[in-house]
Amino acid sequence: MSSESTKSSTPNTRVLVVGASRGLGEAIAEEYVARGAQVVATVRDDRATPLHEYAPSAGDALEVERVDITDPAQLAALRERLAPRTFDLLFIVAGISLAPQGAIGATIDTADFAAMMDTNVLGVMRTVEELQHVVDPDGTIAVMSSGQGSIGNNTSGGFEVYRATKAALNQMMRSYAARHDGERRALLLMAPGWVRTDMGGAGAPLGIEESIPALVTTVDAQRGEPGLRYLDRHGRTIPW
Ligand SMILES: NC(=O)c1ccc[n+]([C@@H]2O[C@H](COP(=O)([O-])OP(=O)(O)OC[C@H]3O[C@@H](n4cnc5c(N)ncnc54)[C@H](OP(=O)(O)O)[C@@H]3O)[C@@H](O)[C@H]2O)c1
Repeated sequence: MSSESTKSSTPNTRVLVVGASRGLGEAIAEEYVARGAQVVATVRDDRATPLHEYAPSAGDALEVERVDITDPAQLAALRERLAPRTFDLLFIVAGISLAPQGAIGATIDTADFAAMMDTNVLGVMRTVEELQHVVDPDGTIAVMSSGQGSIGNNTSGGFEVYRATKAALNQMMRSYAARHDGERRALLLMAPGWVRTDMGGAGAPLGIEESIPALVTTVDAQRGEPGLRYLDRHGRTIPW
């Protein structure tokens, strides 16, 4: 990826990335391989993906696993497969957006609303609950939120339901953090900026290479800092 990635190493040498078939998740997996980590990265099903295309060049540094985060049985099975292992970093990146920017939230199809909440909130939190057990007690659990999850910063509207899912995700992570108060793990809600991916669209201002190396550097810098933080890719705190 960037020159930043090739120059640096990482304190997170054992990394599990959930939702890495393409887009930001795949880029995070690649970035950690470039920084010398051993990476397990998940795809959702048996379709060939950009992660599969990249995998041969990563050699033994990358293992491709499989999980659909909306399926509790698959999450439990993944936990069982990974149980003997310990990761420094669990990074849950999976997410969906099913309504266009200008759509009025209350007009969304009920099934699309449910699917977005199921994936972006419930699925992500179920993944945290299942896979926390394979994370080192001094390690990090990072979740891909979005700047759009900030209630305080929402003066422009747009992406109404997507925003609501990320705000709900942030709130669920705050409850998780409250329940785990006193533990040593770093808990992170990350905002990558608006990035050109299938979800972000061709008109997004940032390329993946302008977001992910910086975001990974920020995640790495948080290692060993207990408690929950909501951060942009440069490590700046975002208002809840
Ligand atoms: N791009 C942006 O500007 C931006 C900004 C802020 C936050 N984010 C967040 O960053 C994350 C990644 O976004 P992206 O732009 O890379 O999106 P993307 O290109 O659409 O990729 C989404 C990823 O999530 C996976 N996924 C979706 N539902 C899943 C499920 N049920 N189980 C497992 N994996 C699932 C997809 O797998 P499949 O290939 O199988 O569909 C894919 O790997 C999302 O959480 C998104 O909300 C993105």
